[in-house]
Amino acid sequence: MNILSIESSCDDTAAAVVKDGRTVLSSLVSSQIEMHAVYGGVVPEIASRKHVEAISGLAGRAVSDAGLTKADLDAVAVTYAPGLIGAVLVGVNFAKGAAMALGLPLIPVHHVRGHIAANYITHPELEPPFVCLCVSGGTTAIVDVKSYTDMAVLGGTRDDAAGECFDKVARVLGLGYPGGGPMDRLAQGGDDQKYDLPVGRVAGAELDLSFSGLKTASLNLIHNARQKGEELDLPAFAASFGRAVSASLVPRVMEAAKITGYGKIAVAGGVAANSRVRHDLEAASAKSGDKLFLPELNYCGDNAAMIGCQGYYEFLAGNRAGWDLNAYATRDISLG
Ligand code: KG4
Repeated sequence: MNILSIESSCDDTAAAVVKDGRTVLSSLVSSQIEMHAVYGGVVPEIASRKHVEAISGLAGRAVSDAGLTKADLDAVAVTYAPGLIGAVLVGVNFAKGAAMALGLPLIPVHHVRGHIAANYITHPELEPPFVCLCVSGGTTAIVDVKSYTDMAVLGGTRDDAAGECFDKVARVLGLGYPGGGPMDRLAQGGDDQKYDLPVGRVAGAELDLSFSGLKTASLNLIHNARQKGEELDLPAFAASFGRAVSASLVPRVMEAAKITGYGKIAVAGGVAANSRVRHDLEAASAKSGDKLFLPELNYCGDNAAMIGCQGYYEFLAGNRAGWDLNAYATRDISLG
């Protein structure tokens, strides 16, 4: 079954063709990062406009790059939530038009479910149930993936997402947008013990997370140093910051793995590319005996291949959208 999939929830326009939920025949991403970098973050109106310009050509190329024609497609899958509402709407409307014109079923896909499914591309042997740490610019959650389409949030951030925290701190350091990758590279070789940054916890909710304290403490530290004319040891700061983020994420996902007892842990989303988090998860899972699944780096960030993978399982579960499909800025992952 060949699924044309569309993703436009933030600042990447993406189209892909995926066969039977696991084989990526083509995957194209048109990034708008340069457009938004001058503003230090994503400008929603610009994102929507750029999606409109890119989406049709990108979808056409995804089909031809897959070595197919439109007649070979069996369904159209699209991210319909969560994300920037105007941006998601562009993908939803394009997908509706394509599905209607081609006489194909339309499959609605939750963006974070898509991120989780990125693991199926890298690890053909991976099947639910497993626990997944979903960490991106907008989401930080520990998800119980009971089946391909039955999921529940075990814990999540009470304030900022981990990626957002990386981006805000990186911006103040002048590292550009998005800042997670540059912070990660800066941290290599830095002394991760030099700066004592707080690791947030939520009393009475052992699987929940909090990053606003780390963000504020980091920004205060940077501003104080600047006001006093002191020079920050930037690699050490970035390494200490990475250690604090990881110390918040890793023990909680390990605890979730212990509670569920699945013996399998996956990671998803842009922050899944972080070398410190990957390293600490590898060490913790080697110790606990859980099997760890990390997505390939190019499938950690937003892409449409992951939407095509999840779309296949949504289709098998009978999940179809009507022509009245709407876009949603927020939506619980358990609702699909
Ligand atoms: O999944 P994604 O591409 O988009 C969302 O759905 O949000 O994630 C983007 C986030 C950004 O906050 C970016 O700074 C972060 O992922 N990120 C990283 C790394 N690479 C990307 N954060 C930490 N370390 C990285 N290596």
